[in-house]
Amino acid sequence: MNVLEVKQLEKIYFGKVNYAALNGVSFDVEQGDFVGIMGPSGSGKTTLLNCISTIDVPTGGSLEIEGTNPHGLSDRDLAKFRRNELGMVFQDFNLVDTLTIKENILLPMTLDEVSIEEMNNRLRTVTEFLGITQLLDKRTFEVSGGQAQRVAIARAIIHQPSLLLADEPTGNLDTKSVKDVMNLFTSVNKDLQTTILMVTHDPYVASFCNRIIFIKDGKFHNEIHRGEQKGEFYQKIIDTLAFLGGRRDDIQ
Ligand SMILES: Nc1ncnc2c1ncn2[C@@H]1O[C@H](COP(=O)(O)OP(=O)(O)OP(=O)(O)O)[C@@H](O)[C@H]1O
Ligand SMILES: [Mg+2]
Repeated sequence: MNVLEVKQLEKIYFGKVNYAALNGVSFDVEQGDFVGIMGPSGSGKTTLLNCISTIDVPTGGSLEIEGTNPHGLSDRDLAKFRRNELGMVFQDFNLVDTLTIKENILLPMTLDEVSIEEMNNRLRTVTEFLGITQLLDKRTFEVSGGQAQRVAIARAIIHQPSLLLADEPTGNLDTKSVKDVMNLFTSVNKDLQTTILMVTHDPYVASFCNRIIFIKDGKFHNEIHRGEQKGEFYQKIIDTLAFLGGRRDDIQ
């Protein structure tokens, strides 16, 4: 079953000069998959993710998440749809500094009619799973980057979303935390069977995915699958990025 279907998605930014950031992108994501999106800087990765997460509105084509086109919903239904179906993790964590870690994680659920007991049960499960129970009463400025990203992951998965979206989730982390956070994404995918779509420019980070979709100039370019050999997959990622061109640091 497909959790996500993207059909001929188009996004034109209108301005003095109109710019087509997405030029008819199509692909599907199956339930339980862990998919990476890669491509040169400016190829439309963030625009694509923002259209899927409904942060941005496409100007053409369509998409369905669990059979629903979120862009066809009323504002009220859309807000509820986002809270139920989607989880989001960003490069800069996006935690609310005035709240404790616990309050940050519970935030998406406080808007729905979830009982306190249910909230606490889920909080316990998710924080034990991610190894962050000791952080709950801290403030956001008292935790490290790696810890902050785990908190953001907890917040993104506590309501068991159909689709977890992540835009450069390791972009602000040191090497050790990158590995830890990617191992967590892998566990979330394998153990909780959460479907993940992640944008990254880092081949090492991408090598944790099962499948990688490359986009160039706002179009689907090609895709590769992990198969058995992680090393071979990593080399294929490097080769494809080199072929696509782009910034030097995209392929380091
Ligand atoms: N709000 C906007 N208005 C006009 N143009 C935009 C806007 N947002 C993005 N663009 C343009 O759309 C193109 C795609 O941008 P996008 O942020 O999706 O790229 P990206 O693949 O995420 O790049 P990076 O790897 O650098 O994060 C770029 O050329 C960018 O300049
Ligand atoms: Mg981007």
